Amino acid sequence: MPPKTRVAVLISGRGSNMEALVRAAQAADCPFEVSLVLANKPDAGGLETAQAAGIEALCVDQKPFGKDREAHERAIDAALRERGVQVIALAGYMRILTPFLVDAWEGRMLNIHPSLLPKYPGLDTHGRAIAAGDAEAGCTVHLVTAGVDEGPVLGQARVPVLPGDDEHALSLRVLEQEHRLYPETLAAFCRDLG
Ligand code: GRF
Repeated sequence: MPPKTRVAVLISGRGSNMEALVRAAQAADCPFEVSLVLANKPDAGGLETAQAAGIEALCVDQKPFGKDREAHERAIDAALRERGVQVIALAGYMRILTPFLVDAWEGRMLNIHPSLLPKYPGLDTHGRAIAAGDAEAGCTVHLVTAGVDEGPVLGQARVPVLPGDDEHALSLRVLEQEHRLYPETLAAFCRDLG
Protein backbone atom coordinates (compact mmCIF):
# COMPACT_ATOMS: atom_id res chain seq x y z
CA MET A 1 0.00 0.00 0.00
CA PRO A 2 1.35 3.52 -0.79
CA PRO A 3 2.24 5.69 2.21
CA LYS A 4 -0.70 7.50 3.73
CA THR A 5 -1.17 11.19 2.92
CA ARG A 6 -0.30 13.35 5.93
CA VAL A 7 -3.28 15.59 6.67
CA ALA A 8 -3.53 18.49 9.11
CA VAL A 9 -7.03 19.38 10.29
CA LEU A 10 -7.53 23.05 11.14
CA ILE A 11 -10.29 23.88 13.62
CA SER A 12 -11.63 26.74 15.72
CA GLY A 13 -14.28 24.98 17.80
CA ARG A 14 -15.78 21.68 18.85
CA GLY A 15 -14.22 19.74 15.99
CA SER A 16 -16.87 17.12 15.28
CA ASN A 17 -15.81 16.96 11.62
CA MET A 18 -12.20 16.59 12.75
CA GLU A 19 -13.33 13.64 14.90
CA ALA A 20 -15.02 12.05 11.90
CA LEU A 21 -11.80 12.38 9.92
CA VAL A 22 -9.77 10.92 12.78
CA ARG A 23 -12.17 7.98 13.06
CA ALA A 24 -12.03 7.29 9.32
CA ALA A 25 -8.23 7.44 9.37
CA GLN A 26 -8.15 4.54 11.82
CA ALA A 27 -9.18 2.13 9.07
CA ALA A 28 -6.20 0.24 7.69
CA ASP A 29 -7.16 0.99 4.10
CA CYS A 30 -7.76 4.72 4.63
CA PRO A 31 -5.40 6.63 2.31
CA PHE A 32 -4.80 9.47 4.79
CA GLU A 33 -3.61 9.89 8.36
CA VAL A 34 -4.36 12.85 10.60
CA SER A 35 -0.86 13.98 11.52
CA LEU A 36 -1.83 17.18 13.31
CA VAL A 37 -4.87 19.03 14.61
CA LEU A 38 -4.22 22.77 14.72
CA ALA A 39 -6.43 25.48 16.19
CA ASN A 40 -6.22 29.26 16.06
CA LYS A 41 -7.63 29.60 19.60
CA PRO A 42 -6.58 27.87 22.82
CA ASP A 43 -10.20 27.22 23.85
CA ALA A 44 -11.09 25.21 20.74
CA GLY A 45 -12.74 22.13 22.28
CA GLY A 46 -11.46 19.87 19.52
CA LEU A 47 -7.87 20.23 20.76
CA GLU A 48 -8.62 18.08 23.78
CA THR A 49 -10.52 15.55 21.73
CA ALA A 50 -7.58 15.21 19.36
CA GLN A 51 -5.12 14.82 22.19
CA ALA A 52 -7.28 12.14 23.78
CA ALA A 53 -7.18 10.31 20.45
CA GLY A 54 -3.38 10.38 20.56
CA ILE A 55 -2.96 13.01 17.85
CA GLU A 56 -0.70 16.02 18.14
CA ALA A 57 -2.90 19.00 18.99
CA LEU A 58 -1.32 22.38 18.51
CA CYS A 59 -2.64 25.87 19.10
CA VAL A 60 -1.13 28.65 17.03
CA ASP A 61 -2.96 31.39 18.88
CA GLN A 62 -3.97 34.26 16.65
CA LYS A 63 -3.98 36.72 19.55
CA PRO A 64 -0.31 37.71 19.69
CA PHE A 65 -0.40 38.46 15.96
CA GLY A 66 -3.18 41.03 16.36
CA LYS A 67 -4.51 42.11 12.98
CA ASP A 68 -1.57 40.67 11.07
CA ARG A 69 -3.35 37.64 9.65
CA GLU A 70 -0.53 36.85 7.26
CA ALA A 71 2.05 36.65 10.07
CA HIS A 72 -0.28 34.25 11.90
CA GLU A 73 -0.58 32.14 8.76
CA ARG A 74 3.20 32.12 8.29
CA ALA A 75 3.49 30.61 11.76
CA ILE A 76 0.84 28.01 10.87
CA ASP A 77 2.54 27.25 7.57
CA ALA A 78 5.89 26.73 9.31
CA ALA A 79 4.30 24.33 11.81
CA LEU A 80 2.71 22.34 8.97
CA ARG A 81 5.91 22.12 6.96
CA GLU A 82 7.97 21.10 9.99
CA ARG A 83 5.66 18.13 10.33
CA GLY A 84 5.67 17.13 6.67
CA VAL A 85 1.97 17.84 6.21
CA GLN A 86 0.79 17.28 2.64
CA VAL A 87 -2.88 18.27 2.71
CA ILE A 88 -4.90 20.69 4.87
CA ALA A 89 -8.51 19.95 5.80
CA LEU A 90 -10.29 23.01 7.17
CA ALA A 91 -13.02 21.82 9.53
CA GLY A 92 -14.84 24.69 11.17
CA TYR A 93 -11.79 26.94 10.90
CA MET A 94 -13.44 30.29 11.47
CA ARG A 95 -10.90 32.74 10.15
CA ILE A 96 -10.82 34.11 6.64
CA LEU A 97 -7.52 33.21 4.99
CA THR A 98 -5.14 35.60 3.29
CA PRO A 99 -3.73 34.91 -0.19
CA PHE A 100 -0.52 33.77 1.53
CA LEU A 101 -1.90 30.49 2.89
CA VAL A 102 -4.32 29.97 0.01
CA ASP A 103 -1.53 30.27 -2.57
CA ALA A 104 0.97 28.24 -0.54
CA TRP A 105 -1.48 25.30 -0.36
CA GLU A 106 -3.23 25.71 -3.70
CA GLY A 107 -4.86 22.46 -4.78
CA ARG A 108 -4.02 20.85 -1.42
CA MET A 109 -6.44 22.57 0.97
CA LEU A 110 -10.04 21.41 1.41
CA ASN A 111 -12.94 22.91 3.35
CA ILE A 112 -16.36 21.71 4.41
CA HIS A 113 -19.24 24.15 4.25
CA PRO A 114 -22.77 23.54 5.56
CA SER A 115 -24.73 24.45 2.44
CA LEU A 116 -25.16 23.32 -1.13
CA LEU A 117 -22.65 25.73 -2.62
CA PRO A 118 -22.83 27.98 -4.59
CA LYS A 119 -25.90 28.63 -2.44
CA TYR A 120 -25.27 30.39 0.87
CA PRO A 121 -21.56 31.00 1.20
CA GLY A 122 -20.60 32.59 4.54
CA LEU A 123 -22.45 32.28 7.83
CA ASP A 124 -26.01 31.41 8.91
CA THR A 125 -26.49 28.92 6.10
CA HIS A 126 -29.31 26.95 7.75
CA GLY A 127 -31.28 30.02 8.76
CA ARG A 128 -31.08 31.33 5.22
CA ALA A 129 -32.17 28.01 3.69
CA ILE A 130 -35.20 27.87 6.02
CA ALA A 131 -36.09 31.53 5.42
CA ALA A 132 -35.94 30.97 1.67
CA GLY A 133 -38.35 28.03 1.93
CA ASP A 134 -35.82 25.65 0.35
CA ALA A 135 -36.96 22.02 0.08
CA GLU A 136 -33.43 20.73 0.53
CA ALA A 137 -30.21 21.70 2.22
CA GLY A 138 -26.86 20.00 2.60
CA CYS A 139 -23.11 20.35 2.72
CA THR A 140 -20.21 20.74 0.35
CA VAL A 141 -16.55 19.77 0.39
CA HIS A 142 -14.54 22.03 -1.88
CA LEU A 143 -11.00 23.09 -2.67
CA VAL A 144 -10.05 26.38 -1.08
CA THR A 145 -9.38 29.29 -3.41
CA ALA A 146 -9.11 33.05 -2.86
CA GLY A 147 -12.88 33.65 -2.78
CA VAL A 148 -14.59 32.60 0.46
CA ASP A 149 -16.47 29.27 -0.05
CA GLU A 150 -15.93 29.51 -3.79
CA GLY A 151 -13.47 26.81 -4.86
CA PRO A 152 -14.17 23.78 -7.07
CA VAL A 153 -16.69 21.38 -5.53
CA LEU A 154 -15.33 17.91 -4.70
CA GLY A 155 -18.47 16.45 -3.14
CA GLN A 156 -21.94 17.28 -1.86
CA ALA A 157 -24.59 15.61 0.29
CA ARG A 158 -28.25 16.59 0.39
CA VAL A 159 -30.91 16.39 3.09
CA PRO A 160 -34.55 17.42 3.06
CA VAL A 161 -35.71 20.53 4.91
CA LEU A 162 -38.69 19.22 6.90
CA PRO A 163 -41.79 21.13 7.96
CA GLY A 164 -41.23 22.75 11.36
CA ASP A 165 -37.42 22.62 11.06
CA ASP A 166 -35.54 25.23 13.03
CA GLU A 167 -31.86 25.96 12.48
CA HIS A 168 -30.82 23.50 15.16
CA ALA A 169 -32.83 20.59 13.78
CA LEU A 170 -31.62 21.25 10.26
CA SER A 171 -28.01 21.70 11.35
CA LEU A 172 -28.02 18.28 13.06
CA ARG A 173 -29.40 16.61 9.94
CA VAL A 174 -26.75 18.29 7.81
CA LEU A 175 -23.96 17.58 10.31
CA GLU A 176 -24.66 13.86 10.15
CA GLN A 177 -24.02 14.05 6.42
CA GLU A 178 -20.92 16.22 6.92
CA HIS A 179 -19.42 13.46 9.05
CA ARG A 180 -19.95 10.98 6.22
CA LEU A 181 -19.10 13.25 3.28
CA TYR A 182 -15.83 14.74 4.53
CA PRO A 183 -13.94 11.49 5.20
CA GLU A 184 -15.25 9.98 1.98
CA THR A 185 -14.29 13.00 -0.14
CA LEU A 186 -10.91 13.47 1.50
CA ALA A 187 -10.15 9.79 0.98
CA ALA A 188 -11.02 10.01 -2.73
CA PHE A 189 -8.93 13.18 -3.03
CA CYS A 190 -5.90 11.52 -1.41
CA ARG A 191 -6.26 8.41 -3.57
CA ASP A 192 -6.18 10.67 -6.65
CA LEU A 193 -3.02 12.36 -5.39
CA GLY A 194 -1.46 8.90 -5.76
C1 GRF B 1 -19.56 22.61 10.37
O1 GRF B 1 -20.92 22.80 10.18
C2 GRF B 1 -18.79 22.93 9.13
O2 GRF B 1 -19.50 22.65 7.97
C3 GRF B 1 -18.58 24.42 9.23
O3 GRF B 1 -18.35 24.65 10.60
C4 GRF B 1 -18.98 23.62 11.37
C5 GRF B 1 -17.90 23.03 12.23
O4 GRF B 1 -18.42 22.08 13.13
N1 GRF B 1 -17.51 24.85 8.38
P1 GRF B 1 -17.43 21.10 13.87
O5 GRF B 1 -16.42 21.98 14.64
O6 GRF B 1 -16.75 20.25 12.87
O7 GRF B 1 -18.26 20.32 14.82
